Amino acid sequence: MMEDSFTRYLAAKQSVDDRSLNEGVWQSLLAHLPPEPLAILEVGAGTGAMLDRLDARGFLPRVAEYTAIDADPTNVAEAQRRLSGRPWPIEVELAAADVYEFARRERGRRTWDLLIAHAFLDLVDIPRLLPDLFALLRPGGMFYFTINFDGLTALEPRVDPDLDERVIELYHQTMDERRVDGRPAGGRRAGRALLTLIPAAGGEIIAAGASDWIVMPWQGHYPADEAYFMHYILGFFEESLRERPELEPRRFASWLGRRHGQIDAGELVLIAHQLDMCGRVGGDA
Ligand SMILES: C[S@@+](CC[C@H](N)C(=O)[O-])C[C@H]1O[C@@H](n2cnc3c(N)ncnc32)[C@H](O)[C@@H]1O
Repeated sequence: MMEDSFTRYLAAKQSVDDRSLNEGVWQSLLAHLPPEPLAILEVGAGTGAMLDRLDARGFLPRVAEYTAIDADPTNVAEAQRRLSGRPWPIEVELAAADVYEFARRERGRRTWDLLIAHAFLDLVDIPRLLPDLFALLRPGGMFYFTINFDGLTALEPRVDPDLDERVIELYHQTMDERRVDGRPAGGRRAGRALLTLIPAAGGEIIAAGASDWIVMPWQGHYPADEAYFMHYILGFFEESLRERPELEPRRFASWLGRRHGQIDAGELVLIAHQLDMCGRVGGDA
């Protein structure tokens, strides 16, 4: 049985995300940034991968302070462990906090120049949260919303064409049906929904583009820790579909077994369609 570590999954996801981020959206963000140095807020920051990424991209000299929150104290502790002992040229504040409460609490007290949400907004009630998040930006402040799932998952090669399709359709359905503390999550179309929900909440989109995950073996091997990433993705399928009456348990277990086997054999390909976007909120920078 695979070791079930969400923090290892996030670490394994880092190389996948690095490859997938939309370069045009990133360049647009750079071209429109408000005056520096920047105060950045990242919500749903996990174990701090974005901070590493910004560092690797030479972005930190533009930054004065970086506030990162995540609801899960285990992730925040891991971020603290990973980031401590490194000399950061900026002030970094990590906190375990629920984004809805954080946005409510900080409204009118503090503002930031740039808001980052990476692989996060598809998990939350976007129409409810977005206006509260935008209220935390200074006039002319920018947002950078990346890796927002958008309705398509593909696993290749096929093992059981009819079941392959049914599993993926049901998996997407669980995204639409998911409630967290009674609130809807972003749903399977969170990516494209953002394209209309952002203007509705008072934001102006400057650039948008695809950031699809394509995870595949190269000469029979997955790079970095991406085999673990792939097993973990199948774990999401298992966890969310285990109880579904539409799936015959033994057939589903056998399907999962074959899919894990494809990873071990260096054969499985995953494609997940996602969107990145950046823009600003009202007022001049
Ligand atoms: C898919 S992970 C992405 C983490 C990180 N951005 C990354 O890509 O490595 C989503 C993160 O959102 C956090 N999260 C979920 N609901 C939250 C909430 N209501 N408030 C704050 N964080 C939340 C989870 O704990 C998790 O770390």
